[in-house]
Amino acid sequence: MSFRDDGAAAVEWAANYLETVGELPVLAQVKPGDIRSRLPESPPDDPEPFAAVLRDIDDVLVPGMTHWQHPRYFAYFAVSAAAPGILAELIAATLNQVAILWRTAPASTELEGVVVDWAAQLLGLPAGWHGHIEDTASTSTMAALIAARETTGRRVVVCSEHAHSSVDKAARMLELELRKVPADEAFRMRADSLELDDVAAVVATVGTTSTTSVDPVPQIADACKRAGAWLHVDAAYAGSAMVCPELRWAFEAVDRADSLVVNAHKWMFTPMDCSLLWTSRPDEFRAAFSLIPEYLRTPDAEDALSLSEYGPALGRRFRSLKLWAVLRCYGRSGLQSRIREAIRLATLFEDWVRDEPGWALSAPRPFSVVCFRREGSDADNEALLERVNATGEIFISHTVLNGQYVLRMAIGHESTSEDDIRRAWDVLCANA
Ligand SMILES: Cc1ncc(COP(=O)(O)O)c(C=O)c1O
Repeated sequence: MSFRDDGAAAVEWAANYLETVGELPVLAQVKPGDIRSRLPESPPDDPEPFAAVLRDIDDVLVPGMTHWQHPRYFAYFAVSAAAPGILAELIAATLNQVAILWRTAPASTELEGVVVDWAAQLLGLPAGWHGHIEDTASTSTMAALIAARETTGRRVVVCSEHAHSSVDKAARMLELELRKVPADEAFRMRADSLELDDVAAVVATVGTTSTTSVDPVPQIADACKRAGAWLHVDAAYAGSAMVCPELRWAFEAVDRADSLVVNAHKWMFTPMDCSLLWTSRPDEFRAAFSLIPEYLRTPDAEDALSLSEYGPALGRRFRSLKLWAVLRCYGRSGLQSRIREAIRLATLFEDWVRDEPGWALSAPRPFSVVCFRREGSDADNEALLERVNATGEIFISHTVLNGQYVLRMAIGHESTSEDDIRRAWDVLCANA
């Protein structure tokens, strides 16, 4: 294997893919088991050339892919792996840093501190928060709940009925009691009568998964303060949008949080996975997670710098490199323009839905996700979703609001243009 030649071929492959992904069906047109049936059951006995791997990616795997890098990917949350991040991943794998301790990966550990501080500045967070990178928001939230449980000695978690299922999952794994608070007519947590005396943590969501609604963090922060409960803010999706000052209303009182998660792999154009977890209480985080067996013992001054002291994983990969590359190559203005464009496109789409008889908007739209439905039954809307997704032209997803099946158009990929939005609307209307 020639690393140089195969590497050039791999980069060429990636460049071609990014140029042509928009011509592929966005949702994989395969059935469960199709791809597995086309792959050998056993590994090769003898070495194969890397070219054979690339060939099978094209012939076998790509046809079985749902293309998250497609400009008409509008399901769940539309996310982008931007070119600088892709290239940085290649280099991170080349360097293969394993940051179990500061001394095993000083540069990657310290760069992580720097980029998370940079991100905090871009999003307008208070100076001095401690940040590190986890794989996903699910892990970040679980880590925050562990810190809350250890700090408060309590075992109850509160969130709204619209909080992400990762809160349910973390509560289940940590054997915490979960109390769900109802939401108001705009899908925000009702915080007027929170009783938190026995509560370890409240998870407030800025940008809920269904509608991107924003919980009333100032009120929740007041209630947490009164009761001594930990406030964790889940801004996995919408947090990145705070790079735009005009959207900062959604971060009101987030500076009073004990911890905050923002997924750079959602709307900060960074390849999966890169979840930013900040805390204003690093000592409590460290007390919850620190566990140093003899073989990992180093002088004290180094220990506090080891980011494995602040979360569940010991071995930590070089995730900061891709975020650093994106932040440098896009800059504040590049992030802002992409986020503003997604919101502009969502506003346009929302206008079309509002103005067209037979369609209705189903929720307010704070950011770039439009919730809407066709008049008719839930079954009609579900069938419509299946029909439009089967075209391969677009991929959208759904939610249920007030007991009704609702379609979701999540705009956010950096390559999505007004033409793509127009095409999505045409496909929806033609199939309605
Ligand atoms: C608000 C919110 N929190 C958490 C998550 C979980 O993110 P992850 O896949 O990084 O665990 C999501 C996923 O969409 C989300 O929307």
